[in-house]
Amino acid sequence: MGVGGCLALPWRCLVVLCLRLLFLVPAGVPVRSGDATFPKAMDNVTVRQGESATLRCTVDNRVTRVAWLNRSSILYAGNDKWCLDPRVVLLANTKTQYSIQIHDVDVYDEGPYTCSVQTDNHPKTSRVHLIVQVSPKIIDISSDISINEGGNVSLTCIATGRPDPTITWRHISPKAVGFISEDEYLEITGITREQSGEYECSASNDVSAPVVQRVKVTVNYPPYISDAKSTGVPVGQKGILLCEASAVPSAEFQWYKDDKRLAEGQKGLKVENKAFFSRLTFFNVSEQDYGNYTCVASNQLGNTNASMILYEETTTALTPWKGPGAVHDGNSGAWRRSGSAWLLLLPLAHLARQF
Ligand SMILES: *[C@@H]1O[C@H](CO)[C@@H](O)[C@H](O)[C@H]1NC(C)=O
Ligand SMILES: *[C@@H]1O[C@H](CO)[C@@H](O)[C@H](O)[C@H]1NC(C)=O
Ligand SMILES: *[C@@H]1O[C@H](CO)[C@@H](O)[C@H](O)[C@H]1NC(C)=O
Ligand SMILES: *[C@@H]1O[C@H](CO)[C@@H](O)[C@H](O)[C@H]1NC(C)=O
Ligand SMILES: *[C@@H]1O[C@H](CO)[C@@H](O)[C@H](O)[C@H]1NC(C)=O
Ligand SMILES: *[C@@H]1O[C@H](CO)[C@@H](O)[C@H](O)[C@H]1NC(C)=O
Repeated sequence: MGVGGCLALPWRCLVVLCLRLLFLVPAGVPVRSGDATFPKAMDNVTVRQGESATLRCTVDNRVTRVAWLNRSSILYAGNDKWCLDPRVVLLANTKTQYSIQIHDVDVYDEGPYTCSVQTDNHPKTSRVHLIVQVSPKIIDISSDISINEGGNVSLTCIATGRPDPTITWRHISPKAVGFISEDEYLEITGITREQSGEYECSASNDVSAPVVQRVKVTVNYPPYISDAKSTGVPVGQKGILLCEASAVPSAEFQWYKDDKRLAEGQKGLKVENKAFFSRLTFFNVSEQDYGNYTCVASNQLGNTNASMILYEETTTALTPWKGPGAVHDGNSGAWRRSGSAWLLLLPLAHLARQF
């Protein structure tokens, strides 16, 4: 075999050199590899990283010399260990079988292994491929992000494994949507508030269960008032004005009566601000409380407002038999006044409902 042949087939040359070293092959005799009948090595061996791999070679009593080699060295020749690696052990050297085992297999152990035997003075080899599988592992994933509506988002999920894992992205909450990306990159241009929530990256190969990791995408948007209704309340009763707004980050609320801002802690009045609404409670509505109220909802991205009317309502006609309305029954002046105010405010209330 010439130098050119060695350059073309370095692995094969190494094996031949090793075999010559072992005197398994007399110089000049070509080595037949991949012999279909003998020696019969097993098919490719597939193991997971960390497991043990057994390399078996079937022999018979005509066999005089045996050896296992990897790509670069002789591992075992007969009962003699030629390598220093403590993970490599002889499993069996019998009349029928010559096997070695590699413990705690790692990815660098992957590759071809050669079983070499000498029978009736003829050297023969058989090759087996050790395939090492590794569970998928996500090694790099985008952090949670906060972005203004309309912005562009780019999420990345990098995973390793053998074979190479398949990577997918899904939008899983608040509503589960199907797969939205079949690779490690997820690009969203002009993101909408509906596209906020949790995104899940999944990396899978056939080695073990898929691994998943989540990224939270927060989409900021200015407040939007979804509900602000005018309310009718009789004098002396409890009245509530409600202003509902959605916004991210949550809106801050302010109330105005006509052009005047309502002071916090005003007597007989309670303001409750929550993430999605603000509630104005009048514990005992008086004539002066009636009027036009404006709720202003704001966050970093903007503000919006809605107006509503707290108008006088007479419950007398509706519930003549009940207690609360009795306040008006005993006072005909108040009754007439409230009646006319009610009529005046009707178109206003109608107008306000259209906001
Ligand atoms: C063994 O593995 C090698 C390398 O991966 C491949 O080319 C060959 O087809 C495999 N043979 C069998 C029988 O699976
Ligand atoms: C061959 O085996 C030797 C001894 O275990 C080891 O040092 C070497 O890395 C192996 N080479 C390959 C290509 O597996
Ligand atoms: C988002 O991407 C689109 C299309 O690639 C581009 O036209 C637009 O300028 C980008 N917007 C921002 C805020 O970067
Ligand atoms: C409501 O206010 C009126 C006038 O100030 C008062 O007469 C009445 O007792 C109050 N009602 C309640 C339930 O506090
Ligand atoms: C309510 O919104 C209108 C229109 O955007 C704006 O002109 C007005 O100043 C706002 N009112 C308050 C009290 O913020
Ligand atoms: C209430 O006040 C707002 C803001 O001052 C105004 O735009 C609106 O027309 C008023 N509503 C009614 C019914 O008067």
